Amino acid sequence: TSQKSSNVVWHQHQVSKTDRVKQKGISRSAVLWFTGLSGSGKSTIANAVEQLLFAKGYHSYLLDGDNVRHGLNRDLNFSDDDRIENIRRIGEVSKLFVDSGLIVLTAFISPFQQDRALVRALHQEGEFVEVFIDTPLALCEQRDPKGLYKKARAGEIKHFTGIDSAYEAPVNPEIHVDTASQSIVECAEQIVAYLEQHHYI
Ligand code: PPS
Repeated sequence: TSQKSSNVVWHQHQVSKTDRVKQKGISRSAVLWFTGLSGSGKSTIANAVEQLLFAKGYHSYLLDGDNVRHGLNRDLNFSDDDRIENIRRIGEVSKLFVDSGLIVLTAFISPFQQDRALVRALHQEGEFVEVFIDTPLALCEQRDPKGLYKKARAGEIKHFTGIDSAYEAPVNPEIHVDTASQSIVECAEQIVAYLEQHHYI
């Protein structure tokens, strides 16, 4: 087998990103980089966007906490350093998926402006679309879907985003989603409309 593998030559550029994008019937691949507080609705809205894209026949892939923090990044916790590494790795993975010609969605808190800027810089111009899921802390805490805010307030979880760990809101996101005034479907439609208006799909 060693002889076999030594004879395998990887023709890296035989099929280009442009070819892959074209085959998938879109104008350009990109990552929709969701950011927002815990419980802001990132995963829910990203899932709704995927459903809309799927119904229209587009190929997408969603990276979120469940498929990343339990696998690739299971060695990381919620210290500042580990969050930075979490986002760095996801940024690299998102770049690979964008190269594969997909509409990629990522749903991580990604609390630090600097780390999001580094991921943006990894990607080509226009391929990083920052989606701010803007839900006020008070509303996230009121919803508290996983009961984590309650635990954080009780001191049972340390370094919880918005409580005793910072969340730096995007200054100039491509898409600003106001979840307090729109339904989940309306939020998802806003994001898909952006992709259409800016000629991604
Ligand atoms: S980060 O900051 O981007 O690295 O975080 P992320 O990978 O998105 O993981 C966030 C989810 O982990 C749960 N969790 C915590 N969040 C914030 N702070 C602390 N200390 C924490 N501990 C566990 C929480 O359920 C987050 O899920 P979401 O979906 O964001 O509510």
